Amino acid sequence: DGVIARKLFSQGYSFTYDDLIFHPGHISFAADDVDLRGRVSRRISLRVPLVSSPMDTVTEGTMAAAMAALGGIGFIHYNNRPEEQAAQVVRAKRIRPGFVVDPVVFGPRATIKDLDRLKETRGFSSVCVTEDGRVGSKLLGVVTSRDTDFVPDRSTELSDVMTSDVITVPSKCSREEAEKILIQSKKGRLPVVSSNGELVGLMVRADLKKALAYPARGEPSLGPDGKILVGAAIGTREDDKERLKLLVAAGVNVVILDSSQGDSTFQLNMLNYVKKNYPALDVIAGNVVTVPQARRLIEAGADGLRVGMGSGSICTTQEVCAVGRGQATAVYQTAKFASTYDVPVIADGGIANSGHIVKALALGASSVMMGSFLAGTEETPDEYFMKNGMKLKRYRGMGSLEAMSKGSDTRYFGDKSVLKIAQGVSGAVADKGSVMRLIPYTMQAVRHGFQDLGIKSLKEAAQRLYSDETKMEVRTPAAQKEGGIHDLVSYEKRLF
Ligand code: XMP
Repeated sequence: DGVIARKLFSQGYSFTYDDLIFHPGHISFAADDVDLRGRVSRRISLRVPLVSSPMDTVTEGTMAAAMAALGGIGFIHYNNRPEEQAAQVVRAKRIRPGFVVDPVVFGPRATIKDLDRLKETRGFSSVCVTEDGRVGSKLLGVVTSRDTDFVPDRSTELSDVMTSDVITVPSKCSREEAEKILIQSKKGRLPVVSSNGELVGLMVRADLKKALAYPARGEPSLGPDGKILVGAAIGTREDDKERLKLLVAAGVNVVILDSSQGDSTFQLNMLNYVKKNYPALDVIAGNVVTVPQARRLIEAGADGLRVGMGSGSICTTQEVCAVGRGQATAVYQTAKFASTYDVPVIADGGIANSGHIVKALALGASSVMMGSFLAGTEETPDEYFMKNGMKLKRYRGMGSLEAMSKGSDTRYFGDKSVLKIAQGVSGAVADKGSVMRLIPYTMQAVRHGFQDLGIKSLKEAAQRLYSDETKMEVRTPAAQKEGGIHDLVSYEKRLF
């Protein structure tokens, strides 16, 4: 009854997630007991096996910090100058979940008028006042609207109205302790100060309220430096070596060699270079979809493999170049091979729902990389815009003409190509709110998927898969239709 993966994937078909359906297993534990701990590379484990893609409409510092705060990791894109990318790494690594690390600060000679202007542009008017108006200088006081509401002379200096008697916490204070103190203080802001009384951060009541409303918090992903884990992508050109140097100086924890077809001499050379010059740094190679590709990269020292070719929602590689592989087949075949070397596989692209994540992980992936699933969240770069009554954000393939015109063409060509052929498209996606809400809900759904499979962890998933215990079937087009929503009329008011 049902088919085992070894048989299913050896028939000469290219299957993707939607083609397949697993047979349920026996449930003997709660969904909350499922342990989804995964890995992106040999030495980097994640509590939550989700990874944000190095795309310029998905991952910069804010997304990387949010993914790490959630127990995953983000890879900062490199469609920018090396200094810009390194600055994003620095920014992300400075972030302490729950704290604002670069708060707006004024000096004592600033006026209430300056605060009024801040209210107009940023929407808040409570700030810390420090000796020279910067973070890192001595905290003098805090000004809130209660100090300034009824002061008719708006040119009054902040030193005349600020509250100097401020409750603060030392920089070593844990998030939980600081939250307790902030709640007890009944204040809007809790400054964090160094042993010399310099302002080094802030906890904000409104942020805390929002954070407590988010579902299930857990341990963030931290590196050996005690700071959050941050990844970054680089190319394989000569000047990427300089980029890498800056990224390492910025504290990057792991790098991805970014290419749509990773089985190349360029990538092998770069892999050798990174391994030789930065032995402590894990390097993920790819993208690959076959065993011979995976073998070459692993034998050259790859600490992780990024798997997927043309499966991304904005990808046109399969149509333009006639190469690639259905993502389910690609993940199964490469992960099975890589597992014999203990090299983790990141299933990259094609994730449209939590079921796809369950399938990727149950087919041997150690983590899952997403672009479109995260696009349109608050943490992506860029602003929202309104179109046809909908709140949207841009999302584009790194091989789209739009992204390539900014420099990302090295992912798809060498640096000497004159004619550029797009292998991706650009568009927009609807507002999805914050990843702080999206990811915990998604992961709970994934836990339910594992519970239905009767599998308690990724390790167990791999054991069952490779010992032929996991059973599945191919869904016919009618079965796929049946598995989705059907025969229902929407009664929701149409917006346009
Ligand atoms: P999703 O489905 O999550 O896929 O949006 C994200 C992944 O797609 C890859 N990518 C591209 N592939 N042309 C392609 O063929 C492109 O322009 C392109 N841009 C990104 C990439 O692997 C990413 O993680």
